[in-house]
Amino acid sequence: MKRVKVLDKEFELCIPSAQIQEAVEKMAKKIEKDIIGKDAILLVILNGSFMFAADLYRKIFVDCQISFVKLASYSGTKSSGEVKSLIGLNENLKGKTVIIVEDIVDTGITIDNIIKQLKKQEPADIKIATFLFKPDAYVMHYKLDYVGIEIPNDFVVGYGLDYDGYGRNLDDIYTLIQKKKTEKLNVVLFGPPGAGKGTQAKSLLTEYDLLHISTGDILRMEIADETALGIEAKKVIENGQLVPDNIVIGMIGALLEKNTDANGFIFDGFPRTRVQAEALDKLMEEMGWNINILITLDVPDNEVVKRILIRGKNSGRADDQNIDVIENRLKVYHEITSPVIEYYKAQKKYRSINGTGAVDEVFERICDVIDEY
Ligand code: IMP
Ligand code: MG
Repeated sequence: MKRVKVLDKEFELCIPSAQIQEAVEKMAKKIEKDIIGKDAILLVILNGSFMFAADLYRKIFVDCQISFVKLASYSGTKSSGEVKSLIGLNENLKGKTVIIVEDIVDTGITIDNIIKQLKKQEPADIKIATFLFKPDAYVMHYKLDYVGIEIPNDFVVGYGLDYDGYGRNLDDIYTLIQKKKTEKLNVVLFGPPGAGKGTQAKSLLTEYDLLHISTGDILRMEIADETALGIEAKKVIENGQLVPDNIVIGMIGALLEKNTDANGFIFDGFPRTRVQAEALDKLMEEMGWNINILITLDVPDNEVVKRILIRGKNSGRADDQNIDVIENRLKVYHEITSPVIEYYKAQKKYRSINGTGAVDEVFERICDVIDEY
């Protein structure tokens, strides 16, 4: 699907230009039929409607005037909020058939405001022509006489419609790509060293607005904060030992409790054992959440070795430069992780995706899997 970026937001194609023109044509024909023999005027509400109005007007082949107005906001002296007045209206509308031309009717509050002001001018008739209509957002009772296309209650740009003043020049109409925010989304990212977990996790954070939990980061944080857990962990690390499951699990539990309003978490490097996987499920259950999915970035061993060696050359990391060490890390990965994979498979939460190819391609594959949830 074609995507565009307007300022900081991403949009995807919703209504292509050809479909827009077809809908405008239909509206023009209907309006034409209704205004034959009448003293009609299109009253275009700027700014958003300028493009639609230009296309619509060119497709109307009976006598009809056009005029452009704007709603100006000014703060009233009362604290009751904003009052918007119609400015730029030079024509006398008395006895005319007025067709309000809007790019979009959302709640209908704007239309309501306009109609109330126009009625004072005693036109013969007021009709509403809106290119887009969001029925799910509409709270008014006016019948919309001419509607181009009905759309869901999502934010759109293009064809005159803007996001913060930008995007009006797009030929097609695009809809905002929603980041999934309503439900918690908890993903375990899995895969051998060098599979690209860290890189992909970073992109996923922004795409889905999640927190990244890497056990290494947590350990450093807890140690820096000198929490009880941190102090204990430091002792163990200084003795050259692995931090035991119960400590790691305790740290993750504390982090989850600290972030109850997060949209969800990406776990990277955890769980590594079946005990940790079970503990994570228990922690999640206590919070009323659950792990949605474990995604393995599948990269063949020989490819991973190549990647790590390249990384080793650039970073100078000793363990990334010795082929024997790398192969041993891979062996350990395959041995200790298969029980974790089996654990998630049994819950039907296991997915494996092809982790080779361009970083963007792998990212798309991960997003496709997540978007199924
Ligand atoms: P209302 O809610 O019907 O009063 O619509 C108010 C105004 O909000 C419209 O005239 C548009 O300028 C703007 N608007 C509503 N929905 C959208 C959208 O999806 N994209 C861009 N502007 C919108
Ligand atoms: Mg508008």
